[in-house]
Amino acid sequence: MLHISSDDKVQNITVVVGLQFGDEGKGKITDHLSAFHDVVIRYNGGGNAGHTVVTEKGTTKFHLVPSGALRAGTVVLSNGMVIDPIALVEEIKKLKEVNPDVRIEVSRSAHVVTEMHKHLDLAEEDVRKNLRIGTTAQGIGPTYEDKYGRSGIRMSDLLDLSILKEKLRLISRLKQSLFEGSDYLYESKIDDLAVKLLESGKLLKEYLVDSEVTIQAAYDAGKSLMFEGAHGALLDIDFGIYPFVTSSNTIAGALTNDTGFSFRKVKTVVGVAKAYVSKVGNGPFPTEIRGKAAEVLRQIGSEFGTTTGRPRRVGWLDIPALRYSLLLNDADFIALTKLDTLGMLDKIQVGYAYTLNGEPIQHFPKDFRILEKVTVEYKDVQPWGKLGDGILEDVRKNGMAGFPRELREYVSLIEKLSGFPVRIISFGSRRELTFDRSNLGAPDMDQVI
Ligand code: GDP
Ligand code: IMO
Ligand code: MG
Repeated sequence: MLHISSDDKVQNITVVVGLQFGDEGKGKITDHLSAFHDVVIRYNGGGNAGHTVVTEKGTTKFHLVPSGALRAGTVVLSNGMVIDPIALVEEIKKLKEVNPDVRIEVSRSAHVVTEMHKHLDLAEEDVRKNLRIGTTAQGIGPTYEDKYGRSGIRMSDLLDLSILKEKLRLISRLKQSLFEGSDYLYESKIDDLAVKLLESGKLLKEYLVDSEVTIQAAYDAGKSLMFEGAHGALLDIDFGIYPFVTSSNTIAGALTNDTGFSFRKVKTVVGVAKAYVSKVGNGPFPTEIRGKAAEVLRQIGSEFGTTTGRPRRVGWLDIPALRYSLLLNDADFIALTKLDTLGMLDKIQVGYAYTLNGEPIQHFPKDFRILEKVTVEYKDVQPWGKLGDGILEDVRKNGMAGFPRELREYVSLIEKLSGFPVRIISFGSRRELTFDRSNLGAPDMDQVI
């Protein structure tokens, strides 16, 4: 069946995913693309994500609500997410100040993150010692553990005090050793927490839906849908660099499990990559830059965590890892961000291949013990300097030719080495500093909007 919405526009069904270790600029790209979608659905993770959108009205940081919420008609937090309901109440309050008209739907089946899970997150990190992940301490791992252990609290449970108490007690008993020395072993503490959660449930009740039903209904009504993946492919629980990963599947294909919407209907997969790489937390990072040069890039690029404020590790673009992610996500094209930042360095490199013991490696080795040992082969790239004030006008007038030659050469090099086209170029944090030749908007939109 051909789905055309009432105003005869094309029905876009799009997924946006990160191709690296997170913080690629998904928030900015999702906000940009939300202009061409009616419904934006966030499908995985929780408050560990931090997505920044900069408009003429200021900066908005999303942690739970989809980053399309500034212009999409409806946003959905689907069943694959793990949600701190108290944080969500606050985030919705702030969002309503900026966009009072947006409709918000939250899956009844999404799992609930409580302060107990945040305690467990830190307690588990403590036990792990040299396998410490460097989590965001947002309770993500322990909440997914409860989900898959079938002791988890779902959003619908927030409406029933006795269920809340029963489940909190169960979690406390199951993880007793990790609660040693804390108040969460006491009934009174659990009772207080249950009441707090019930209060948030009262405030969130109006948003609770079976999101697989509402998403399907929106699709049937011809609406354009965009699925927003949090984090990045290299943090995927199965395909990332385990154990230095998050606890959800972060790749595009996860959307079916995480929303109930069929992967067969997806038309476009947008892979977001930064022009270099950043990473928070532990684990191998083959193209990492160290010392003074890293400090310079971190400062120019403001590479500090959106959620935790932690300084991000930074490195050169890693082509073997990028190709691995592009293939895993079956991306149609790359949205490349922060080209303005990278151009300002005196020296730029791209890691284009790995060798192990002097031998080339054909496939990306996701095993962290192998990845720690690889040697990266680099190519030098000509920097293009600071993009001038007139860059927006130049690009609006001349399209791709409005960018400096060296920047265009960098983009072509990435296309050649990765084997995938770059269709969106982001050259500043502000919304309008986006060059789009993706055809997801107006068919002739080969321009800045
Ligand atoms: P996300 O987690 O992928 O949504 O990314 P974050 O929001 O955590 O981090 C990306 C940061 O880069 C944010 O501060 C954005 O405002 C900023 N940003 C995104 N695209 C660009 C760009 O093209 N240039 C510059 N200078 N900043 C950008
Ligand atoms: P966005 O959506 C960057 C990283 C953490 C840590 C590991 C596990 O903003 O790109 P967790 O708290 O999930 O158990 O931590 O995963 N991590 C992210 N790093 N951006 C993110 O999200 C991240 N989400 C998780 O730093 O290394
Ligand atoms: Mg982020």
